[in-house]
Amino acid sequence: MPVKNRFAELLPEITAWRRDFHANPELLFEVHRTAARVAELCRSFGCDEVVEGIGRTGVVAVITGRSDTRGRVIGLRADMDALPIIEQTGLPYASTVPGKMHACGHDGHTAMLLGAAKYLAETRNFDGRVVCIFQPAEEGGGGGREMVRDGMLSRWNVQEVYGMHNMPGIPVGHFAIRPGAMMAAADQFEIVVTGKGGHAAKPHDCVDTTAVSAHIIVALQTIASRNVDPLKQVVVSVCTVETDSSAHNVIPQVVKLKGTVRTMDAKVQDFVQDRIGQIVEGTALALGARAEVRYQRGYPVTVNAPDNTAFAAEVAARVSGQVDTDTPPLMGAEDFSFMLNERPGAYIFLGNGDTAMVHHPAYNFDDAAIPFGASWYAEMAETRMPNP
Ligand code: NI
Repeated sequence: MPVKNRFAELLPEITAWRRDFHANPELLFEVHRTAARVAELCRSFGCDEVVEGIGRTGVVAVITGRSDTRGRVIGLRADMDALPIIEQTGLPYASTVPGKMHACGHDGHTAMLLGAAKYLAETRNFDGRVVCIFQPAEEGGGGGREMVRDGMLSRWNVQEVYGMHNMPGIPVGHFAIRPGAMMAAADQFEIVVTGKGGHAAKPHDCVDTTAVSAHIIVALQTIASRNVDPLKQVVVSVCTVETDSSAHNVIPQVVKLKGTVRTMDAKVQDFVQDRIGQIVEGTALALGARAEVRYQRGYPVTVNAPDNTAFAAEVAARVSGQVDTDTPPLMGAEDFSFMLNERPGAYIFLGNGDTAMVHHPAYNFDDAAIPFGASWYAEMAETRMPNP
């Protein structure tokens, strides 16, 4: 079965929603206008239940099929938030809010799930319930975690969850997925090195925190190159170095380093966290300084359950005929992982063609992908929960 014909008819309407979201981007949990519009549209489609304020500003819309004989419930998720980026696309529907931009295509995800909701509420050609999950704050706020904490999955008895993200570099109309780890865990760390500041011409009277920090930065690179199995993925990046001096002739008392750790496996994640502590404290001690590490766990690894992945790929193949089932994992992170940690499910990439990468000021979601994405969402429900 190819793309559903109904989505060809709905395309202008879905595109108009998408461009309206694009022109009015909102950040993190402040997606008030977007969430209100989503809820208003879902009510206009005749969804059976529309609840706002889940996970602060998330929206849940429930559609019951023509029958509900087996109590099946499938969750379909889209994210709604934008990024603090100054848009440089020059599009007629470009952001009207300075410094905010839908640079990750979440406007497209929300519009496609709305399109699927409209279609599913019209046709109800399934046995069970579809829970459409519109989440805030994917870009760093953990909106997915907040919705889970709010009891969203148990409140609607969601049994499995599916999410989608557009991806530049994959042709429009193609899908890509893989079983197992698909996106990384993203943690952050802050290291505070304390020595003895003083006159730069008298280093022997000081404990030079900049020299100690330089040794720490280099030593941290041995985690990836010398400690972790080369067949496992890991990134350790020190991204900022900040001192309490701006002079060329003062040895600073304190240096702060900040960075990120990306891993694909919980054991590697634990190992890297321990190793950072040992390297930082040991290096500082060896050079006469003190150092402290604050390590903060962020989004967990996004893990696709094998059976649900095979099913998601099968539906994608029906919709487009083009699905890569062994796409390489990415070291970016995704907070749909909080839902996948609670329920089996899968996360799939939808091709966005030859555009700028997500999070770039020239990025734009390709509206030609809408019929594929919306069909995939709808077909997931119909195929998973066929009428008896
Ligand atoms: Ni995104």
